[in-house]
Amino acid sequence: MTKIPFRFDSQLAGKNLIDQQLADTTKAALQDLLADSGKDAAFLEVPFDSGALNTTLAAIKGVPARFTKVLVLGIGGSALGTQAALEALKYAPARKDKKEVRVLSNLDPASISDMISWFDPKDTLLVPITKSGTTVETLTQFSIFTNIIRESLGDAGLRDGMVAITDPERGALRQIAIKTGCQVLDVPPRVGGRFSVLTPVGLFPIGLAGYDIEAMLGGAAAVLKNVDMAHPSVQAAAGQIAMMKKGASIRVFWAYSDRLAFMGDWLSQLWGESLGKPGKDGPVGQTPLRAIGSTDQHSLLQLFMEGPKDKIITFVTTKDVPVVKVPDMSFLHADLAEFANKNVDEVFDALRMGTTVGLVDADRPVFELQIDKLDEATVGALFTHFMIETALAGYILQINPFDQPGVEAGKKFAHGILGRPGMESFKARVDQVLGG
Ligand code: PA5
Repeated sequence: MTKIPFRFDSQLAGKNLIDQQLADTTKAALQDLLADSGKDAAFLEVPFDSGALNTTLAAIKGVPARFTKVLVLGIGGSALGTQAALEALKYAPARKDKKEVRVLSNLDPASISDMISWFDPKDTLLVPITKSGTTVETLTQFSIFTNIIRESLGDAGLRDGMVAITDPERGALRQIAIKTGCQVLDVPPRVGGRFSVLTPVGLFPIGLAGYDIEAMLGGAAAVLKNVDMAHPSVQAAAGQIAMMKKGASIRVFWAYSDRLAFMGDWLSQLWGESLGKPGKDGPVGQTPLRAIGSTDQHSLLQLFMEGPKDKIITFVTTKDVPVVKVPDMSFLHADLAEFANKNVDEVFDALRMGTTVGLVDADRPVFELQIDKLDEATVGALFTHFMIETALAGYILQINPFDQPGVEAGKKFAHGILGRPGMESFKARVDQVLGG
């Protein structure tokens, strides 16, 4: 794979979108980003890490055949990428020895209870994933499922029935892995959670689901070739910033594919958590919003068309769809003649194109991202495209796209409520605000 398997186009948002000043800033920011590839921007090196790939492939091969199912525990960057890939690839061919992989990515007791009914330690491998090894949601889930394993299979079950994915040194999960003797895969310490989908965090569960993770990294590597000003990810980043400067405070990822809904969720985390920061001249960022076509033509479109002019929409399309013919049922009613004998995708495309032109005519800017085949290489390429776009946008905005200090405050109050020693003052503040 040498070619980037998608096209990005910003023409419909207007010509000369990126003025000379923004082009100069982008060029300098790109240089800085690429220079940081051995440091904060370590995600740029991930697709070339053959050591991690080989370890992951060996771990996949080493999973005993009795495990026909896999339960992944994780949240945020430790879950969303896997969910996005599994959803995007759900009609792609998978290996014969594929396992049924489910991801528990929230602490909603209803979802946990549902998963407990599905989980059987005799045939289900547990894969807890947390880079920090300390995340409340993941460790709570972990306590529940390891208890089920232990009650059924004893300590040997914890050793043989679990593969943990975490930081090589830090955190509770690493220590638990040492204690139980279970296998552990490392999350590269310099790769942040939301930039980690192409590390074992995503590769292990996606590979267990039967997909070709080498092809996925091949697609990612194709995007990392010749990253210059003409590169689609660079054009996309500069285009987003240009629109931000014109007042687009909302970025809409509008996929005309049900399979890309989770990709929109993954991007929302990446874009929101990376860019919502205090900037030099005040807060910066752009609110991500995921839409699905044509469904949201009957929901969000009215807002996009006639609401505040504060959005930039990226239409994401794929030609990788099955042929489904619409039968001629016009004898029931003349209105059905319009679709008769057409393929469903012709009708679907007409709706999208109609919406696109409607938005352009209403002076609502749109970008387009067109995908041919929705396979492993494309999924790897899309992840990489959006990660470059996001990191570069951060560098252009002169903020650090790799941290998330703003999420810490809430965690401290939660620890206070849960009774962690040393957090009593946070509990006192909670009582003050919410009533003790
Ligand atoms: O991008 C990030 O770092 C976060 O969103 C994390 O992915 C999320 O908080 C989960 O963290 P962890 O993998 O440490 O459990």
